[in-house]
Parts: sequence; structure tokens; C-alpha cells
Amino acid sequence: KNLQEDNLRAPVVCVLGHVDHGKTKILDKLRRTNVQEGEVGGITQQIGATNVPAHGVQRQTHMVKGFDMSNLNFPGLLIIDTPGHESFSNLRSRGSSLCDIAILVVDITQGLEPQTVESIDLLKKRKTPFVVALNKVDRVFEWESNPAKDIREVIKLQKEPAKNDFDRRTKEIIQALNEQGLNAALFWENPNPRSYVSLVPTSAISGDGMGNLIAMVCDLCQQRLNKRLMFSEELQCTVLEVKTIQGHGTTIDVILVNGRLREGDTIILAGTEGPIVTQIRSLLLPKPLKEIRVKGQYDEFKEIPAAQGVKIAARDLEKAIAGLNLQVAYHDDEVDLLKDDVDREFKAAMRSIKVKERGVYVQASTLGALEALLEFFKANSVPYSGIRVGPVVKRDVMKAAAMLEHDPMYAVILAFDVKVEKDAQELADKEGVKIFSEETIYHLGDCYVEYIKDFKK
Ligand code: GTP
Ligand code: MG
Ligand code: NA
Repeated sequence: KNLQEDNLRAPVVCVLGHVDHGKTKILDKLRRTNVQEGEVGGITQQIGATNVPAHGVQRQTHMVKGFDMSNLNFPGLLIIDTPGHESFSNLRSRGSSLCDIAILVVDITQGLEPQTVESIDLLKKRKTPFVVALNKVDRVFEWESNPAKDIREVIKLQKEPAKNDFDRRTKEIIQALNEQGLNAALFWENPNPRSYVSLVPTSAISGDGMGNLIAMVCDLCQQRLNKRLMFSEELQCTVLEVKTIQGHGTTIDVILVNGRLREGDTIILAGTEGPIVTQIRSLLLPKPLKEIRVKGQYDEFKEIPAAQGVKIAARDLEKAIAGLNLQVAYHDDEVDLLKDDVDREFKAAMRSIKVKERGVYVQASTLGALEALLEFFKANSVPYSGIRVGPVVKRDVMKAAAMLEHDPMYAVILAFDVKVEKDAQELADKEGVKIFSEETIYHLGDCYVEYIKDFKK
């Protein structure tokens, strides 16, 4: 596989856990950003990516006793944020399949919840090493914060009531982890890091323990991942999102896990009208410590080695579909073969979605969002007869209109995070097809549930 022993890539670190336990907020603290407050409904609905260079690690860890930056033999971290909302199990699974190591975030005041357990199962299945962030430690009774100190020190300095509350909650969580078949211990009490999961108390609000968390992740990478992190030229690259950026036109955000991308490379990826073949016009990186999900400034590169979150500008990306792999053709005669591969992967993903004969028409901006949306509808017994990734156009309205005759309550398009073309809306109004368009999947679901109630009256 052409592994390069003395050339390690950045480890891909996936942040997993139950909804609202603080995954995005932890990353905000690390990045000094405010991504979480800008999220619609306060929930994460896509996979995110942040490149953390070595100096970002250094900045965060200076207070950590015994952590030596000069030991780091990899160039930084690529951190992947995932949604905790129950509907997004597909994105948790995808995120965890991309990663080398993970941070499982557990709200110390809530303990293990359903998506915590789901995340643990994913990590076990893939044998991914991970640490647990015991987050929201600032909510421990009479807790006194001190983010400038090592968390071990901060805990020693707590008064009795805080100490007791912390000990009790921690014990309960360790017990709950045991029930999931995991040995677990606070990291400074860990008898064997190979068989015990380490817990690191953190607060994404006060910053307590953040340095220790990053140091712990780096230590674990050094101890467990040296082989796995050897750079390989074999490309592994996944498309996260398709986005229009001023000055660059339509771009795609990708996670480059292995291999490298170069300006001018011929790339092949799935599109709504079949595989797209195009050349990389510009290779862009968000500024270090910026979330790729959030529009910002970019630096341009001729060549980018893994692992990093990368933005690609190229022609013909308007119909690109997010959620699948991106390929590079190094020779002209590979193009057709790779097109077939891409096509097969997309068709397999779409085939795995079973549509009913009668039901609503569902559209979303990405394959991941579409899958999550359908999960939500399944759970709420809303049948769907048609699905598509992309903006609502007249053709979609015509398909949805087919329900008018026998099942008018299904003559509905539920559109998540996509544009509704003007002529499509006009046609819908004329035909009597209802289009719901929302920015969070649960609002969209609720909208339809309400609509049905009125409909049946
Ligand atoms: P999803 O992405 O939707 O699964 O949620 P999440 O795990 O990313 O949690 P998020 O970062 O959105 O935080 C949820 C809420 O908890 C927000 O209101 C945060 O401000 C709050 N929060 C997160 N971390 C902490 C913490 O350490 N202490 C306190 N007090 N609040 C926190
Ligand atoms: Mg989040
Ligand atoms: Na949230």
C-alpha cells in the first residue's frame, strides 16, 4: 500500500455522543469559535470538520502536567463533529467509519443516553480507541473552575460538596459503562490504558479539562496508532457537502483521510444526473481551527496531503451529491472505470432506501440528510413514495402530483435545506401540491404531522 513509515498523517478524531451533551461546544472551545450558537435549532445536522495544526494543540495543552509536545510525531489533528440527534445514526456511522480515534462526549449530569450507547456500539464494532469527555463538569454542585490548571489539580482544589458530587456522578457513569461491557476509569487512575477507557472531566463552557482532553487524544494516538497513521498514497476521500461560495462558484467540502489531492486532478463523484467528471480548479483549506461547515476565508494550495478537511472548487459541481466517495483518475483510461464505481456506489445507496407505492415526496440537500429524514419519517409512520437529492424542480412537482387522484394527503413535497425553484412552486400552487421547506429535520417532520391532522378533519 506504499506506506510511509516516517511520514505520519494527521489522525482523524471523531466526536460522538448523545444530542446536546456538548460535542460542538467542546470544539468551539478548542477553536475559539461560536459555531454551536449559529446552528439551526441548536442541533448539529451535518458532519463537520476542523483542521487542528500542531500549534493549535500546543496552545491548548500548556497547562497539562507531563505532556510533551515535542514527542508528537504527527502534524496535527483532523476533528470530525457529528450530530447526536437520533435521526442521524447514518452520519454517526459514517463519521465513525472515517476516524482513527474518537472522543465520546457524556454529559456528567445526564450520564449514558440512547445515542451514547449507540456510539459505543459503533466504536466497539470498529475497535476504535476512544476517550470519554465527562462534559459539563462546571454543573457539578459548587464547582470552582480553573481552566488555566491541569484538571487533576482543579479537582484536588474542589471543596467537599463539589468533590462528593463529582465522585458520585463519575462512579455512576463508570458503572453504566461497565454495563456496556467497558472497563473505565478517570485517566489518572487508569490501571491499563489498553483495556480501560479513560475519562477526562471537561467543561466546554469554562474550559476546565480541555487541555487534558486534547493531550489524552494525542497520547492515545502515539501509543496506539503509529502504524495506522502512516501516510499512504491510496486515496480515501469522502464528499461532505456541496456549497456555493462567493468567488468560487459551486464547491464541495471533502474529508481527505488518506492520499493527496492536487490542483488540476481529474475527479469523479456522484451527481444527480449521473457521475460527474471534472478537474480541480482550486484546492482550498479553511483557516486552521475553523469549521469547514461555516463559510469563511480559505487558503489556496497546489497540493494537499491527508488528513484534512478540504474545499474543492471545480466546474460542473452544481449537481454533485454529498455523502459518497470521491475518486481521482490518474490516467485517462481510468475515467470510465471510476465512473462505473461511483455510479454503482450511488445506486446501491439509493436502492437500500425502500419507497412505498403511496406516500409523500422527500427531497434533501445531501444523501446523509435524506437518509436521516427518512429515518425520522419511518419512526413517525409517514410513508414516502419518492426521494431525491437536490433542489425542487418542476419534474418533482409532477411526480408528487401523481398522488392527487387517490391519496391527496400525500401530494406533498417535504424539502429539507434545498431551494424550491420558482417555476416549481408556481406549478405546485396551480396543481395543488403542497411544498414544505424547513431547515431542521424535526421541524419538517412536525409540519407534516400537523398538516395531516388538519387534512383528516
Ligand atoms: P448535537 O450536535 O445536537 O448532538 O449537540 P452537541 O452534543 O453538539 O451539544 P452542543 O454543543 O450543541 O451543546 C448543547 C448545549 O449544552 C448548549 O446549550 C451548550 O451551551 C451546552 N453546553 C455544552 N457544553 C457545556 C458545558 O461544558 N457546560 C455547560 N454548562 N453547558 C454546556
Ligand atoms: Mg453538535
Ligand atoms: Na446541540
